[in-house]
Amino acid sequence: MPNEGSYEVAVERSNRIRADLPIHPESYTMLTGDRPTGRLHLGHYFGTLKGRVELQNLGVRTNVLIADYQVITDRDTTANIQDNVYNMLMDYLACGIDPDKTMIYTHSAVPACNQLMLPFLSLVSEAELQRNPTVKAEMEASGHELTGLLLTYPVHQACDILFCKGNVVPVGRDQLPHIELTRTIARKFNNRYGKVFPEVDALLSDTPLLPGLDGRKMSKSYGNAISISMTAEETAKLIKKSKTDGERMITFDPEARPEVSGLISTAAICTGRSEVEIAEEIGMGGAGQLKKYVTEAVNEYLAPIRERRHQFEGDLAYVRDVLAEGNRRANEIAEATLAEVREAMGMRY
Ligand code: TRP
Repeated sequence: MPNEGSYEVAVERSNRIRADLPIHPESYTMLTGDRPTGRLHLGHYFGTLKGRVELQNLGVRTNVLIADYQVITDRDTTANIQDNVYNMLMDYLACGIDPDKTMIYTHSAVPACNQLMLPFLSLVSEAELQRNPTVKAEMEASGHELTGLLLTYPVHQACDILFCKGNVVPVGRDQLPHIELTRTIARKFNNRYGKVFPEVDALLSDTPLLPGLDGRKMSKSYGNAISISMTAEETAKLIKKSKTDGERMITFDPEARPEVSGLISTAAICTGRSEVEIAEEIGMGGAGQLKKYVTEAVNEYLAPIRERRHQFEGDLAYVRDVLAEGNRRANEIAEATLAEVREAMGMRY
């Protein structure tokens, strides 16, 4: 029997929810978010943003968090945070997240959400926190010491999810330990004080991870990611200087030819064509022709998104208003939930 916290069980639950979402959208409250540390790229777009828009348009209650406090889990500066937050918001809006349907907010602006941290911390043990593999990986990758925040931010993430009674959380596999912790916290709270919080599940993406232009994991720090906010010219330049191999004949082979295959996958996802078909079409055209094809595919796909983004760039007052309104609504919801929590705990004065 696979145990309840295993990957297989999470996949199965996720698949069941995916099938039920179009049938009972009203039963679901989605919450997910991003750390505002830089611009969103094609990997974010196909891995999660597109899916959020689909859920939003199905009629699911959708909430998107710009997790500004999470920026300081593994870095010691908040330089550019305001700029990063507004740019992230513009990326969202450009990609079709509609602020009339989706609540977009920053958790630093929602005190009642953050206050859930106190009762929630009482429901987890130090050992449980120390075991979290994602926290360990982040600590190693960043070289940052294990501060109190880095150790406990998964509890804060439970506050993010539970303040709005989120029950579906679209995330990547690395976030599963946090979802599991959220489930534990909700259950323990409900057992101890009475039912306030829902059962939470991860919604795992059904599209395979898009590799970067060089076939490695897509990451801004590798210089292999195409940002949504880049111009068509910047995109062309980045693709042009991406590494390929010495073989002229283009074939799709992610194991043996990661660079060429990363380029082919990028074109495939933007055109909806298969990788093999594209590779065969380019054939002896070589890397030059492949890059030309990828550039056109990406720029054509992103053109309407970039066009919208450009309009928001020219209307920052609107962008600020969207966030202010999202934060206002988030505060309303958080205060109502905190009132329920205090009531359940008998803290009525
Ligand atoms: N940890 C997530 C990330 O690094 C961002 C995040 C913060 C989040 N709070 C969340 C995701 C709540 C889902 C639910 O991308």
